[in-house]
Amino acid sequence: MLDVGCGHGQITQWLARNHPEATVIGLDNHSAQLATAKSSAHSSGIKNITFRLGDINDLSNVFPPTHTFDLITCRFTLLHIRQRAAAIQTFVRLLTPSGILILEEPSLQSLFCVPRVAGFEHANAAIRAYGKIEGIDYDCIRDIWSLVTGMNVKILGARFSQPTIWKREQKRLVSLSFRQFSPRLVSAGILDTAQAQRIQQSLDDEFMSELVISGGLRTLQIAISKNAVSL
Ligand SMILES: C[S@@+](CC[C@H](N)C(=O)[O-])C[C@H]1O[C@@H](n2cnc3c(N)ncnc32)[C@H](O)[C@@H]1O
Repeated sequence: MLDVGCGHGQITQWLARNHPEATVIGLDNHSAQLATAKSSAHSSGIKNITFRLGDINDLSNVFPPTHTFDLITCRFTLLHIRQRAAAIQTFVRLLTPSGILILEEPSLQSLFCVPRVAGFEHANAAIRAYGKIEGIDYDCIRDIWSLVTGMNVKILGARFSQPTIWKREQKRLVSLSFRQFSPRLVSAGILDTAQAQRIQQSLDDEFMSELVISGGLRTLQIAISKNAVSL
């Protein structure tokens, strides 16, 4: 099994734990993420897992043509990639004849708060604007669906999922993420420092109120196989 863009390896570990008979590889192009993933898997005592440094755009050079996988997962990673069609086609090529590819990617339009919190909406608009400047549409559900339906593959299943962000620790992640990301938004000229501070303040205070409930990223989950497989 291969988990592409494995990050800290949460899904890689889940696969390895649930399939002790399988060999699971987590691949990412960020060495710090891989170091966290390796150390976490090691502490959990998981033995059937390895991690590899590699670029999603260069998988043909990471794995020889004979190397195929029964399962490939790629979650929250295609949103960072410009060449999504080529990446998906490579994943399909790396599948065994009965292999399955699972994609899960988000829609950024899906984020909302009840009641509305202006700082939350500004933060999301700024992050999407950053993606546009980088030439990437983070809101990639439409793109992924249109690519997959235009390919010679079999879609085995598709569904939407959207978590509820209500508990304090879940909400805290939103404000911590913005704190980490906002220097880039300021350097890119999307926000000035005062705007970034106002948004941060709103996420730390207004958004954290127990009266606020939020919809997290809605994702599209798709299971695909090569065209010949029927389940
Ligand atoms: C949002 S994280 C998702 C992590 C994990 N899949 C999950 O669902 O928890 C995206 C990951 O994709 C990795 N990534 C981004 N661009 C990549 C590329 N070109 N090749 C390989 N990994 C990449 C990042 O380093 C990061 O770890």
